[in-house]
Amino acid sequence: MTNSKHHTGIRYTLLAIAAGVALALTACGGGSAPEPTQAPPATPAAEPTKVSADVVAKGKEAFNKYGCQACHAIQGFAEGAVGPALNNLYTDAQQIIASAEYKSSEGKATTVEGYIRESILNPNAFVVAQCPTGPCPKGVMIQNFKDQISESELEALIGYLMTLGR
Ligand code: HEC
Repeated sequence: MTNSKHHTGIRYTLLAIAAGVALALTACGGGSAPEPTQAPPATPAAEPTKVSADVVAKGKEAFNKYGCQACHAIQGFAEGAVGPALNNLYTDAQQIIASAEYKSSEGKATTVEGYIRESILNPNAFVVAQCPTGPCPKGVMIQNFKDQISESELEALIGYLMTLGR
């Protein structure tokens, strides 16, 4: 029976194809393979890297409550153009505290957190160079926030601002 022999041949061929497809599918299912883990940073982060959604929400609330948005821009959130835009604050702050200008100023911060705190509580310790419409004016950033903002609002505000530009 040449016919049945022929059929058997086809059946094996089909089985082989099916097996091949199954293998290919398994290989493609590689999405379940573990993601390569990120290399740890060369130096351990000295500052908290995670800020909770609660803190961000509370920080944004304080930002609006104390009128920061009247002078500062944050993409998608605030559009002030008197003081520096805060979109890249974390990176900007790192550069500022490392700069010769900052080191020869009255600024005493050595961390981004400390720099943001100082910017709010003691704004004249260091006056940022560039504002949207020219050199930053000294004394325009509100000088007495330290008497207005509660400790918990301040912490949330700093926590929130530290998420910008990281
Ligand atoms: C009346 C306008 C005005 C208001 C309101 C204001 N700022 Fe400012 N802010 C400025 C100006 C101008 C500067 C730049 C001059 C300086 O460094 O003092 C500045 C600087 C800063 C800096 C440093 C920015 C950088 O790039 O290094 C931070 C941080 C900051 N302000 C946060 C705030 C927060 C938070 C509030 C609200 C609690 C606020 N500011 C309210 C005008 C304002």
